[in-house]
Amino acid sequence: MKILPTISSLSALLFFLCACSSNPRATDIATTAYKDFLPGKLLLDNNSRHVNAHGAGFIYSGGKYYMFGEHKLSGRIGNKSLVGVHCYSSKDLYNWKDEGIALPMSRDPKSEMLVGAVVERPKVVYNAKTGKYVMWGHLEHRKGPKAKSLNPEDISREYPSYSTARTFVAVADKVTGPYKFIKSFRPNAKKYPLGEEKSLREARDRLLSENIKLEEASVKKLPPDNTFARDFEKGQMARDMTVFVDDDPEATAYLICASEDNATLHIHELTPDYLDFTGRFKRVFKGGFHEAPAVFKRGNLYYMFTSHCTGWRPNAGRSAVSNSMFGEWRELGNPFRGDGEKTTPFAQKSAPDTSFRSQSTYVIPVQGKKGAFIYVGDRWNPDDAMDGRYIFLPVEWEGDKPFIRWRNKWDLKVFDKTSN
Ligand code: GAL
Repeated sequence: MKILPTISSLSALLFFLCACSSNPRATDIATTAYKDFLPGKLLLDNNSRHVNAHGAGFIYSGGKYYMFGEHKLSGRIGNKSLVGVHCYSSKDLYNWKDEGIALPMSRDPKSEMLVGAVVERPKVVYNAKTGKYVMWGHLEHRKGPKAKSLNPEDISREYPSYSTARTFVAVADKVTGPYKFIKSFRPNAKKYPLGEEKSLREARDRLLSENIKLEEASVKKLPPDNTFARDFEKGQMARDMTVFVDDDPEATAYLICASEDNATLHIHELTPDYLDFTGRFKRVFKGGFHEAPAVFKRGNLYYMFTSHCTGWRPNAGRSAVSNSMFGEWRELGNPFRGDGEKTTPFAQKSAPDTSFRSQSTYVIPVQGKKGAFIYVGDRWNPDDAMDGRYIFLPVEWEGDKPFIRWRNKWDLKVFDKTSN
């Protein structure tokens, strides 16, 4: 079995970028047949290449699961988006077929999706009213004097400041794409969140009357309400994000994102076509610094897994529950429990306080198994981005409280044994 060879030189990288800007289609020949999940191990696709879909989202469509994630290259430059959003399909969640690049990066200097920008955490949902597949993600524009350059050395030298903090939307007729980039947003400019109009209006008026230069302020100096006020005119920040579609008759969708310099999470309702914001949104965990949201629903309760904010370094996971998306989210603590991997050199680090060396990205509802959910997290490897691993683990329950235990190897039969 082989994995994609390491691309060491920048000229080879440029060649690779050209090769990848079309939409490569994989063959149907499966060389690996997995019967289990092997968290943290290489996950080989039908071409025996490590699945390249980091910060992934999942959708079930036409009898198959689809996984969409950040295609990364090797080395540190691989943390930039040089290729695009990669799509894979699977009938069983163990074996993944390469479906190619669903949303490619562009080489047009005018494009927001110019190679070297940063596209993270893509999530795809289906809109039954329009018959379209809709992809949302986090976008960081390239910045600086060489921001239009296609020279890999220039791209390599840029350090994303994460100050763009926009979310983008793209649309496709087929689940695998190609997705057409529509626009990027700072959500809900000039709008106040549910239940806070009066207090936030007053906070903003006070700052304006005191003539405080909000643009120069950082969250470290500003309490969360002032950070909200700072971004009121141009729209609220949107970094780590996910999309959740409710099971109400309207299939209402929400974009949940880290905002206000990551201090506060925002839950934004999407329009019925899922392409825009309705203006209804809520701030949650104010000043709590939550990232990496992953939302799921069990019975009548809504759950959210998040992380703390420590960049690529893993930290202790967080969980919360609410009666509705716009309800009161109550924190339930770190859902990771027990020992991590005992048999690897990373034993000490793969513990609950590092979420078993992962950061949440999605929770997959297992089809045909009511109440069965799979936690999916990224084990980032920022020094060799493409080598990042995936942690799939079953969500277990203690009453209404979810928890996650480490397993070296497991399969879907686990859901027949646990009471969900
Ligand atoms: C993490 C975030 C990732 C990525 C990374 C960059 O906190 O969850 O999606 O943005 O920071 O440092």
